[in-house]
Amino acid sequence: MEQLNSKNELKNWKESIKVLLSEQVIQEKVKELAAIISKDYSDKNPILIAVLKGSFIFIADLCRKLTIPVIFDFMAVSSYGDSMVSSGVVRITKDLDYSIENRDVLIIEDIIDSGRTLNYLIKNIKSRNPKSVEICALLDKDVPGKFKNKIKYKGFDIPNKFVVGYGLDYAENYRNLPYIGYIENII
Ligand code: IMP
Ligand code: MG
Repeated sequence: MEQLNSKNELKNWKESIKVLLSEQVIQEKVKELAAIISKDYSDKNPILIAVLKGSFIFIADLCRKLTIPVIFDFMAVSSYGDSMVSSGVVRITKDLDYSIENRDVLIIEDIIDSGRTLNYLIKNIKSRNPKSVEICALLDKDVPGKFKNKIKYKGFDIPNKFVVGYGLDYAENYRNLPYIGYIENII
């Protein structure tokens, strides 16, 4: 089990964050996405698969604005290997509880960075014979040499900065900020 240190710099944890997307801007976008998803799946009962931990706040807000019946499942993954080697190897640390065979699947992601995690997940999920698979991602980072995946429901394109808040962490902190920002002095 990994040891987490409580960081001294967290004394002024909020002061060091520059807001990129305000709470209001995020909530408006979540509402928009939920309306489009509800329309597209109006006669369906999709299974929402959130990728832990980062997506937990996004899925919680999004799902409460949907007007269709949905069920939930969760996966957790961790990338491993040397970061200089783009191996595409992702390890599942928590697998789905349910079979997704012949179901409409909507993957809910917080952020697509290199796209490696999502690329792996799509292949893995497709191999389980769902009826359909689509992606909903709140953030898509502008990174050179990205794995290109079709994101049907996208919140925001953001610059290549390390962001925190609204589920996203830096060393497990900052997830509970209601907005998304970046830490000024580390990037
Ligand atoms: P990818 O496989 O490179 O696309 O990485 C995706 C995962 O890395 C996300 O689901 C996050 O958990 C993490 N990640 C990538 N960029 C950021 C960031 O800016 N802030 C916090 N976590 C990030
Ligand atoms: Mg994630």
